[in-house]
Amino acid sequence: MDNSQMKRGIVIKDDWPGYNLDLFTYPEHYHEDIESVYIPHGVIMNRIERLARYITDDFGDSNIMVLCVLKGGYKFCADLVEFIKVLGRNSNRYLETRVEFIRLKSYLNDQSTEDLHIIGSRDLSFLRGKSVLIVEAIVDTGKTMKALLQHVETFEPKMVKVAGLLVKRVPNMAESLTDYVGFEIPNRFVVGYALDYNEYFRDLNHICVISKTGKMKYKV
Ligand code: HPA
Ligand code: MG
Repeated sequence: MDNSQMKRGIVIKDDWPGYNLDLFTYPEHYHEDIESVYIPHGVIMNRIERLARYITDDFGDSNIMVLCVLKGGYKFCADLVEFIKVLGRNSNRYLETRVEFIRLKSYLNDQSTEDLHIIGSRDLSFLRGKSVLIVEAIVDTGKTMKALLQHVETFEPKMVKVAGLLVKRVPNMAESLTDYVGFEIPNRFVVGYALDYNEYFRDLNHICVISKTGKMKYKV
């Protein structure tokens, strides 16, 4: 596999059932609400460490202006930036990283709503002339990412790259929008590692598949 292939992510097949819950630890309060451990926390961390390498190599000498997409991206962003910093300290290629936050909302229950809401500051003029890394937990149809990229471009950054921890295999998937992919997953609703279902499950460290019970219990 060449380098560009590896940046496309670890492919999780459609028939992957996940690991039995009892092989790992998880918060007791979600006992009935999750079906399986889809991606264990340790594997997530190992993959993010590798993404940090690709990013450090590609950004060269440019400092990185990280734009973290909240809320789902907060853990991925924190861990990714940490790995970039560790890599810098252990080599002679220390890249300065700055982090800014943007909040988007497009999901209700497990359904995507049509419109993109940028909540909070819409003025991203601090991106002008910068090398920007957008950090997003999950990219599916790419509608949200496309809209965000268009918005970011209006502030004339020097370059823009996108890191997505998860990319969903959906019809017309937006793979090409995401430069650094952690995992390519089937079109299933997953939670944990800061990904939520109506604000629940962000406190789960693994990425998991929600159960029918969980879906009912936390429905709004
Ligand atoms: N889980 C949580 N949030 C999401 C997902 C998902 O699978 N897809 C888009 N937002
Ligand atoms: Mg959400």
